[in-house]
Amino acid sequence: MAEKAKKKRILVLCALPYTNAIPHVGNMAGSHLPADIFARYCRLRGYETLFVGGTDENGTPTEVAALELKATPRELTDALYAVQKRIYDWFEISYDNFSRTSRPIHHRTTQEFFLRIYGKGFVSKGVLRMPYCEKDRLFLPDRYVEGTCPVCGYEHARGDQCEHCSSLLDSDQLINPRCKIDGSVPVFRDTKHLFLELGKLQSKLEKWIKSEKRWRRQVSSLALGWIKEGLKKRSITRDLKWGVPVPLDGYRDKVFYVWFDAPIGYISSTREWAAKKGRPQAWKRFWLDDKAKIYNFLGKDNIPFHTIFWPGMLIAHGDYNLPYDVVGYQFVNYEGDKFSKSRNWGIFCERVVESELRPDVWRYYLTYLIPETKDSEFKWEDFESRVNNELVANLGNFVHRTLTFAWNNFGGVVRTPKYGEREKNLEGRVDEQLNRVERCLDEVKLRDALTGVLAIAGLGNEYFQSSEPWVLIKKDRESCEKVISFCLHLCRKLSVVLAPYTPEAAGRIASMLGLREIPSWDEISTRKDEFHVLKPEILFKKLDETELERVRSVVTKSYDLKEIFAGRRTQSHGTSISSPPGSE
Ligand code: 2FM
Ligand code: ZN
Repeated sequence: MAEKAKKKRILVLCALPYTNAIPHVGNMAGSHLPADIFARYCRLRGYETLFVGGTDENGTPTEVAALELKATPRELTDALYAVQKRIYDWFEISYDNFSRTSRPIHHRTTQEFFLRIYGKGFVSKGVLRMPYCEKDRLFLPDRYVEGTCPVCGYEHARGDQCEHCSSLLDSDQLINPRCKIDGSVPVFRDTKHLFLELGKLQSKLEKWIKSEKRWRRQVSSLALGWIKEGLKKRSITRDLKWGVPVPLDGYRDKVFYVWFDAPIGYISSTREWAAKKGRPQAWKRFWLDDKAKIYNFLGKDNIPFHTIFWPGMLIAHGDYNLPYDVVGYQFVNYEGDKFSKSRNWGIFCERVVESELRPDVWRYYLTYLIPETKDSEFKWEDFESRVNNELVANLGNFVHRTLTFAWNNFGGVVRTPKYGEREKNLEGRVDEQLNRVERCLDEVKLRDALTGVLAIAGLGNEYFQSSEPWVLIKKDRESCEKVISFCLHLCRKLSVVLAPYTPEAAGRIASMLGLREIPSWDEISTRKDEFHVLKPEILFKKLDETELERVRSVVTKSYDLKEIFAGRRTQSHGTSISSPPGSE
């Protein structure tokens, strides 16, 4: 197992968040956290692993948000990059590189990419009738236009995509189009644009999608649905200022469509990582060598782009690896409804960092909300019960009672004797769970794997309880040492399997066990001759009603973007959550 495992090379990619908003915990559970858990697991396995991401800063979403804030796109993206980066760092999302699509390396990479596919004949020229505001004398970005979806009839579909049925749209397809800001009816005018000829890529895309057996059913069936409808050319340029300029005569006053340049951000972030490492060619190991496997983590509305549009671009280019797995999730809801910043409905990450609860507590519960096969829902009742009954009463309790017993009764030094039948049987059951955890993690079934982790702690608790070491210590010290040694080995295993989920707690377990670091996955079953336990401290504290209420009152009130952007608000301990523009 170990030898084969070591040879794998994995690139983990998380959808690049826009810089027009701040993530809520649904965004965290719906892409960054699962990507992080998987990347941490791959590293523990000893795979050559790289996890990159960044902010998606170009085009309409940013221009619109900046306009509303009366700021320049540069000011807005500088501030929001810093805020977002701080949030991901707080949640211990272990990006090896977190870049920005406004950086020169990304502009260069996008322009090179474009010129290549243009040269290969996958880009055509054409004219679009676009909504135009006669008063302001400008073409309205897709998102400024709202209307009825021609596919499902939803009345508030956006000019680029229907939020209701996920269909990709162009604004002239909308029925009854209107300007989102003032409700006026735009006129349509001709403007020259460039198009990706998706039709030419259809048969290759279809073959590829059908050959990918490991994708989740909902991902493949969505993708095949679009293929069945027939792929049409799609415009890849926009009449905007903020974005990657189009490097082609006749189009130099335009920028690329944000969904054209954003996924290229995966490549530019990898290139940036390599450059920072002083190994500028190292990015090629992940993109040009087909030994590497690419895992894309993303939310439901990003599925069409990652199964059709982006792979189509990659096929057109011809050199790069296609995604190996498109881990597309469903939605996370909050207490019976969708998250909504404007209605202040949900849990907002900029407040979670002020909750004074350890990131691991959030990570633990949010893992259960990863919407792997269907929509999930944050419920406070569930939060309380998972934290108190599982994290505290099962996991935390097992580790704490074992360590405390070792500390109080053996001065922290516990030798490993020969185990008896009972321990060997139990070891077999633990191994079954370990295999389950490993299998699930390999298949990116992160919630099921966590259930296996809990089962191991449960087996430990049962064994501890039924062995009654507090009785044994008085009459048979040797048998008692056997029980505690076995439990300490279980704690050591737990430190490994918990590491992807609750990295800080896993590290504390390892250090209380007197280990220099969390063992690697391959060393999980190694038997140590003895443990030198350090003075134990509580792993997780129970949440009582008062504490829960305090946390709830902090995290459910979002800050206004204006407030955060202006950097006026400061955290309780005095540091501002936003950095001044230009600090990055
Ligand atoms: O939905 C979003 O937040 C987009 N910014 C995701 C982009 S993913 C990628 F292609 F970069
Ligand atoms: Zn629709």
